[in-house]
Amino acid sequence: MPRSKVTIVGAGNVGATAAQRIFDRGYADVVLVDIVEGLPQGKALDMLESGPVLGSDAKVTGTNDYADTAGSDVVVITSGVARRPGMSRDDLLLTNMNIVTSVTRSVVNHSPDSILVIVTNPLDAMAQRAFQVSGFPKRRVVGMAGILDTARFRTFLAEELGVSVNSVEAYVLGGHGDTMVPVTASTTAGGRPITQVLPQDRIDAIIQRTQDGGAEIVNLLKTGSAYYAPSAAIAQMVEAVLLDRQEILPCTAYLEGEYGIDGLYVGVPVRLGASGVEEVIEFDLTDAEREALRHSADAVRELVDVMAQDSQS
Ligand code: LAC
Repeated sequence: MPRSKVTIVGAGNVGATAAQRIFDRGYADVVLVDIVEGLPQGKALDMLESGPVLGSDAKVTGTNDYADTAGSDVVVITSGVARRPGMSRDDLLLTNMNIVTSVTRSVVNHSPDSILVIVTNPLDAMAQRAFQVSGFPKRRVVGMAGILDTARFRTFLAEELGVSVNSVEAYVLGGHGDTMVPVTASTTAGGRPITQVLPQDRIDAIIQRTQDGGAEIVNLLKTGSAYYAPSAAIAQMVEAVLLDRQEILPCTAYLEGEYGIDGLYVGVPVRLGASGVEEVIEFDLTDAEREALRHSADAVRELVDVMAQDSQS
């Protein structure tokens, strides 16, 4: 049986680091695509040459030609402009919409049976765009953000409690933006709800830091945005699909009535496996959380409406 094939579009920090994480695991061949000549080829060759040391005999190739991506099982789309200090994810909307539109068309032409993992910001709106442009069933277009936001939340909680990140379970739902919704009722440390082990003001401060987590990194880096944690989240999603893990992960998925939201991509817990989004899991939310999720969905819908208007003009 041939190895699985994963294409990563965009050889910037997020794309290249995701390619590296997947290549290192050795069970998939990786194609790195970018419009800049030499960049994906150089990064891919460098990565390939790490194989003998790491023990990975997978192939990784760089290209500027979508023909080389043909027959991919999973395609990760990271291309687009990144945030600079002072910019919100939403400021990237129309520029990245055009990029995601053309990339999705090229990808779909060559890999009509693939599963698309969308990473470009503003994430939920870009997932919606890729879904529309691809014509794929909803289960085969999924966005990465909830795992990243949740990883940040778990990191800060673990630090506060002085416990391993592995002992903190959490879910951050909603759009990947200021309105994201950490579900505190299902956030536990060693099985105990965090509401029982931390005072509310500390929980609130950690929620705020999580919501600002992307901006905190942008402000430190000044010339780019986060990529270690985002690429780790991408690799987890790709692995859930390729190894058919049926793993329950917070991802951006197309909702048709779940959580009272219809016709929109928003971050929710999903079961991720070989067919993509196999199921949207409906948590019991408190009224306040349900309201916060709806508010977050409204923010995504505003962006989707702006895209629709721009596409008509
Ligand atoms: C972040 C940006 C990339 O959350 O959305 O780091």
